[in-house]
Amino acid sequence: MRLKVLVLGGDGIGPEVTAEAVRVLEHVARRWGHELELMEGLIGGVAIRQKGHPLPEETVRMAEQADATLLGAVGSPEFDDLPPDRRPEKGLLGIRKVLGVYANLRPVKAYPSLLDASPLKNERVAGTDLIIVRELTGGIYYGTPRGIFQSDGSEYAVNTEVYTREEIERVARVAFELARQRRRKLTSVDKSNVLEVSQFWRRVVTTVAREYPDVTLEHILVDNCAMQLILNPQRFDVLLTPNMFGDILSDEGAVLAGSIGLLASASIGARRPSGAWVGLYEPVHGSAPDIAGKGIANPLAAIGSVAAMLQYSFGLREEAAAIERAIETVLQSGPWTPDLRPPGRAATTTEVGQAVCDAIG
Ligand code: NAD
Ligand code: IPM
Ligand code: MN
Repeated sequence: MRLKVLVLGGDGIGPEVTAEAVRVLEHVARRWGHELELMEGLIGGVAIRQKGHPLPEETVRMAEQADATLLGAVGSPEFDDLPPDRRPEKGLLGIRKVLGVYANLRPVKAYPSLLDASPLKNERVAGTDLIIVRELTGGIYYGTPRGIFQSDGSEYAVNTEVYTREEIERVARVAFELARQRRRKLTSVDKSNVLEVSQFWRRVVTTVAREYPDVTLEHILVDNCAMQLILNPQRFDVLLTPNMFGDILSDEGAVLAGSIGLLASASIGARRPSGAWVGLYEPVHGSAPDIAGKGIANPLAAIGSVAAMLQYSFGLREEAAAIERAIETVLQSGPWTPDLRPPGRAATTTEVGQAVCDAIG
């Protein structure tokens, strides 16, 4: 099979972890006889520096031509004081919108070998196996009006959370379909005790649920959800969330897994004429300026995102499963980067990437 993949390393540890993800992708392509065509592009702070824009036109064009896009991370402290419009993050929000990837799948699994890496008690975390389906191209991230304004000598700021029925329905269907392949339980997260947009979200999800009588639907308020994730994460199978709640809860999920350096994600939505998902594959973590350039970032989230790419955009289930098994092998016997608190010497980003290739065989 021909795999045309755009790689957007981005900022901070982004290029470091995507280099290892590409190493694994190249290894898999060789091993299974696929023809890999790699393209590279700019996004985020590095794109602002070189092209004056966080999402240059040519990056958009390459993403539209590619079968799938692998993204590292965006964001850099030097842009922290700029308005949202001129920040690196705007590039990521832009490419998600352009590609129409409205459903962000973020699996959270507690691997037995890593229970000690979580600061939570082992028995609380053991058996966690959930997936967050986060709405990704709507809600408060994109709603208008937005901005910081002045009126009568006083200042105020506005953001708007808006969801159309169609936006909720389509991401809900992705979540229900996933639940069907799992434990058939869907928990929808909202703040319907306060927000109209959440009341609407709850009503629309309840309507979609009628198409899936075999899936059990429950609703949960986001504040309680944040607590239940720590108290009893095993009760969750598929968590369906609006854009911002999913962002927040997935970093909490990282604590269950043991490190945010483990959380992969697939952003999907539109389909190609062939039926394959248009996909953007991105670790959940950010550019980690505190460890960038040290060669110690955990590449497993980026590598797991390549597995998701092979599965969703290319339908290569065997190859995807081989990467996931290899990740598990590495998590059992090492090498581990420092975030996983290895018992002995901590490994480098490159050593872990190479170890995954070796484990694939
Ligand atoms: P972050 O995820 O970058 O880092 C949070 C903490 O987790 C840091 O201590 C970091 O060292 C650690 N960490 C993150 N990834 C790791 C990895 N692979 N291995 C080991 N440790 C890892 O979040 P932040 O510090 O809040 O944000 C930094 C920048 O990244 C900001 O500019 C933010 O906007 C951006 N960001 C980008 C994305 C993305 O591109 N998808 C996601 C989140 C944050
Ligand atoms: C994520 C990040 C992004 C988000 C930022 C960098 C725009 O936090 O992917 O989780 O909030 O979606
Ligand atoms: Mn986030």
